[in-house]
Amino acid sequence: MAKVTFVQPDGSSRTVVNFEGMTLMQLAVGNLIDGIDALCGGMMQCATCHCYIAPEWLDRTGAARPDERDMLDAIEGAEIRPNSRLSCQVQLGEELDGLIVHVPADQPGV
Ligand code: FES
Repeated sequence: MAKVTFVQPDGSSRTVVNFEGMTLMQLAVGNLIDGIDALCGGMMQCATCHCYIAPEWLDRTGAARPDERDMLDAIEGAEIRPNSRLSCQVQLGEELDGLIVHVPADQPGV
């Protein structure tokens, strides 16, 4: 069990608890976090689960893999940053206790 804080574009935040085996997307959707829509359910087909990992956590989550990066790069109009990730591709575990994630202002096609 570990805590993750989601920060909205307006600076408001919510901290929620994840359980072993969840992805960051599943945690967000399960807790009704605004701005993480995850329309494809984690199949890496929609990119509506895009998020920004707080830079200080990037060494622990890792950066996007090449196929994930291709999906991110295909999002029209989105601000993709070095710390962009598809939250459905971030597996949570105890090592990410305290993780901070920023939610983008917009998601593609939403
Ligand atoms: Fe669709 Fe992550 S939920 S790409």
